[in-house]
Amino acid sequence: MSQKTILITAANGTVGSSLAALLLDQGFNVHALVRNTESTMAHDLKKRGAKIFKGDFSDISSLQIASQGIWGVFINGFPVHGTMDELTHNQNVIKVAKEAGAKFGVYMSVMMAGRKDDIPGMNPQRNSYNYWESKSGSEKALREAGFDYWTILRPSTFISNFFGRFAAYIYPTLQKQHLISSPFEPSFEQSFIDPEDISKFAAAAFANPDTFNGEAIELSSEQITLKDVGVLITDIVGIPIAVEHIPREEYIARGLPDQTAEWYDWAKALDFHIDYERMEQFPVKRNTVADYLKRNKGYITDFLSQ
Ligand SMILES: NC(=O)c1ccc[n+]([C@@H]2O[C@H](COP(=O)([O-])OP(=O)(O)OC[C@H]3O[C@@H](n4cnc5c(N)ncnc54)[C@H](OP(=O)(O)O)[C@@H]3O)[C@@H](O)[C@H]2O)c1
Repeated sequence: MSQKTILITAANGTVGSSLAALLLDQGFNVHALVRNTESTMAHDLKKRGAKIFKGDFSDISSLQIASQGIWGVFINGFPVHGTMDELTHNQNVIKVAKEAGAKFGVYMSVMMAGRKDDIPGMNPQRNSYNYWESKSGSEKALREAGFDYWTILRPSTFISNFFGRFAAYIYPTLQKQHLISSPFEPSFEQSFIDPEDISKFAAAAFANPDTFNGEAIELSSEQITLKDVGVLITDIVGIPIAVEHIPREEYIARGLPDQTAEWYDWAKALDFHIDYERMEQFPVKRNTVADYLKRNKGYITDFLSQ
């Protein structure tokens, strides 16, 4: 059993909480940094054996207290729209962890972050400019921090986006009307990830530093069409979901979020594809979209019934 201690930032969040649970199961000590120590998640992690630290990415002393005695750190700042705060926050975590003696940093970035300079038309006037600069700046900060080991995980779109806090924005007709509207052609396959797969890769990295050191890995669970996502939700959750494909102009005219479609314009322009074969080379057995839906059936049923 390993006695190494890992600091997990954003431990109340989707990936942080599941990573904390996995690492505890693997025998690591876990320092869980949360803003709200009274959350159900924080209580659950405490019961499982994590040490809970109240902190904020902008509060250096809270990061210093949570970083004492750590061997590894999971870096997971959150985008603050229109600002570079995410970069500053990740730089704070990296600097404090290094000063505390951490040897290994794992950062959760996003797919395509390594190609951000090739994104057509990207410039400081674009809404998403700071987002991409923060992600790639954080990757650079990790690479240059001087840790003995570093790993960058670049996940694709979370399948949980359909049912979480972003759903009202990305799929505004899903929750009440059980309808997914798409500006893509019906045959277009999107890469989706079960957030648990990100945690599995991060946990595998901490357990196998030599295998993962110096790697930036694009991550996805599965590549499927939106029609198939609708069929899976219908079959697994038992609530019929329709998927409509409409022309981009109509999609925008209806006030649907063109920003999400932009991602796929960029992926197309960059001829970007997740390298599934490369993922297979790492010691992680990935989930499927169906696995996510089965595991979260109760929550999704409630979400779609509100
Ligand atoms: N959704 C996607 O499709 C997708 C794809 C690729 C990458 N990502 C990246 O994934 C990350 C989000 O991960 P997630 O989904 O696991 O998180 P999440 O569930 O959205 O939760 C975000 C967490 O960040 C914490 N947090 C926010 N600001 C903080 C601050 N100033 N100090 C300390 N903690 C703070 C929040 O704490 P509280 O609980 O206290 O609010 C919360 O626990 C983002 O960086 C996002 O860009 C997302």
